[in-house]
Amino acid sequence: MIDYQIQDQIAIIAFNMENAPMNVLNEESIKAFDEATSKAIEDSNVKGIIITSHKKEFVAGADLNMLLKNATLEQGYEMISHLHKVFRKYEACKKPVVAAINGTALGGGYEVCLACHYRIALNDPKIQIGLPEVLIGLFPGGGGTQRLPRMIGTEKSLPLLLEGRKLNPEKALKEGLVNELAYSKEELLEKAKNWILANPRALQPWDELDKKGNVVGVQSYKVPGGNVQSPKGVQTFIAGTALLQGKTQGNYPAPQAIMECVYEGLQVSIEHGLAIEAKHFARISQTKEAKNMIRTLFFAMGEANKGAARPKDIPATDVKKVGILGAGMMGAGIAYVSAVAGLEVVLKDVSLESAEKGKDYSRNLLKKELEKGKYTQEQVETVLARIKATADAKDLEGSDLVIEAVFENRDLKAQVTQEAEAFLTEKAIFASNTSTLPITGLAEASKRPENFIGLHFFSPVDKMMLVEIITGKQTSAYAIALSIDYVKKIKKTPIVVNDSRGFYTSRVFGTYTSESITMLSEGISPSLIEAAGKGAGMPVGGLDVSDAVALDLMYKIYLQTEKDMGIKITDTADGKVVKKFVEELGRVGKKDKKGFYEYPEDEPKRLWSGLAEHFPVAKEQPSLEEAKKRILYRQVLETIKCFEENVVTNVRDADVGSILAWGFPPYTGGALSFVDYIGIENFVKEADRLADTYGERFRPTARLREMAQKKQGFHG
Ligand code: NAI
Repeated sequence: MIDYQIQDQIAIIAFNMENAPMNVLNEESIKAFDEATSKAIEDSNVKGIIITSHKKEFVAGADLNMLLKNATLEQGYEMISHLHKVFRKYEACKKPVVAAINGTALGGGYEVCLACHYRIALNDPKIQIGLPEVLIGLFPGGGGTQRLPRMIGTEKSLPLLLEGRKLNPEKALKEGLVNELAYSKEELLEKAKNWILANPRALQPWDELDKKGNVVGVQSYKVPGGNVQSPKGVQTFIAGTALLQGKTQGNYPAPQAIMECVYEGLQVSIEHGLAIEAKHFARISQTKEAKNMIRTLFFAMGEANKGAARPKDIPATDVKKVGILGAGMMGAGIAYVSAVAGLEVVLKDVSLESAEKGKDYSRNLLKKELEKGKYTQEQVETVLARIKATADAKDLEGSDLVIEAVFENRDLKAQVTQEAEAFLTEKAIFASNTSTLPITGLAEASKRPENFIGLHFFSPVDKMMLVEIITGKQTSAYAIALSIDYVKKIKKTPIVVNDSRGFYTSRVFGTYTSESITMLSEGISPSLIEAAGKGAGMPVGGLDVSDAVALDLMYKIYLQTEKDMGIKITDTADGKVVKKFVEELGRVGKKDKKGFYEYPEDEPKRLWSGLAEHFPVAKEQPSLEEAKKRILYRQVLETIKCFEENVVTNVRDADVGSILAWGFPPYTGGALSFVDYIGIENFVKEADRLADTYGERFRPTARLREMAQKKQGFHG
């Protein structure tokens, strides 16, 4: 668990959790770590302590199960206060303690280092250092909100704490998170030892010795860059609070608590500051938001990443060669992520020139990575050498998987399917990256429809983590298994859904834009609509995102749906608006610099001034809360329908997919967890009220009503 060794009168304490996949802080490791540090402190022959790890990572973070176990505020407070005591003991032991950061040190792992007197990191660009707790609704409760700002100042530390940024060692050095870099493991230990020898009486700058020689926190410690109450400090907090409100819209309690911890804690001694942090941490870890975010963003996403949806009894395939048809925006992106993951890639387009243009996308991204120091020139060349740009379908031979990303045209897709299959073995899987065309229909062009599947990537492919895997009527379990093996290999998150118009993610996302546009047609002020979208926690306003998608594309999908389903969508409130924008006004969105917004050359975009003429703002406006509700409930009700229709088959995939695909607000836990967040009985009541006011699209389903009667949510 914790290795203990003495070298040259220096104790080397190394995390080495043999029975866990990674070094983490949990009850056992904290206990063993406490025993080890105490032993070194008490041993009068020990001059100093080095804290390091014998595994690849330093310490990856705190075990979330440990945090979730606390059922009450008191238990949470006690747990975190105990951790503070363990860290404080070696921080105030009067012997020099150095963190030799040999691998990733995040969250609680980096807080171990913060309590040391000096930090040296191995300069490996893959190592990550930082305090990312806020990303799962928590905050650094192991002293992070107290020690980091005391060390580097409030102005520099607040963005790191509030955004949960992870830095590589070079950046960490620049930001002051570590004091020095080492270039080999040997040098790391050597430098740590030397520092100990040169600093036999180490003390944190925020500590001093009292008359009896005990280490105590300095009441009026001078924070680098100015104290909280200094003019600069006040400015930082005023600007920071406004920025935070803009970003979180008051939906996230954790970042708010970080501000409070830093503000309150830095005005008192470190001991009192830690007590303030413990109090806030206990409260935050009990919030619905933290629990939702941990459940979905950590546990559910972790399960999805491990391939929870994979058919169990099919042996894993090591996908080695992937063919990509169409080197446009999507194909080029898929080629890049596949090559980076080590796959051999054939990137085919109609001409070698177009295919090379697609490969340029990888060249450009890799150049940026090279400049950032993430890759060496040699590594860049190795990745590029994996991509063969071609116009010849014969090069697809030997592919385990072929993904088509040609134009969204059924006949063309049928043609490239057949062209590719001529060179593929019986076992090879053919996938379509279509965004709208049902997979079962596309599979008709295939000789082996059981090997045909949908792999729906999102743009930009290198940044968007989700891949929506769509099964057609005849898709085999083997095709699903291989697709998940591939998605895991390119380090993305797979969800598996059944074939349906718009599949799962596009179908529900469509209700966000549709509800926003419907509100516009009713005379609701466009700025209120956009504020409601963002206020509800969506990343972008509903009209804004419609412009980004392109109104002519939306119109095309409406028309196709009308044709295929025999229903008149262009007669709906939002359909009429979209039709008007495309056919009458010729405003198709961002790509043409005119849509619901206007995009002046040297100024930020703004809502189009002509909107008021075409959609006069009604005298009576709903409250912001009401508009937010419409936006969220509409998406949630559509998700429930997808779930009941077995399009999305489990709560995990529904939640994870909603957050990763279209940015459904994470604080809710996702589009199904939202019901539990509100409480199912309240949700049904509110949905009924919305249905009575705005139409049947808000009416809860019969099954949802039954669940409400039994008081049973999606998580029991
Ligand atoms: P694009 O227009 O950027 O690229 C299409 C590429 O296919 C072009 O380079 C074209 O030359 C090539 N192509 C045409 N015929 C071909 C053939 N016979 N053989 C090989 N290549 C051929 O299109 P984009 O945006 O990359 O979309 C591709 C597919 O991905 C479409 O089905 C689209 O619906 C889907 N999709 C698009 C998303 C987006 O955000 N753009 C998101 C998810 C899916």
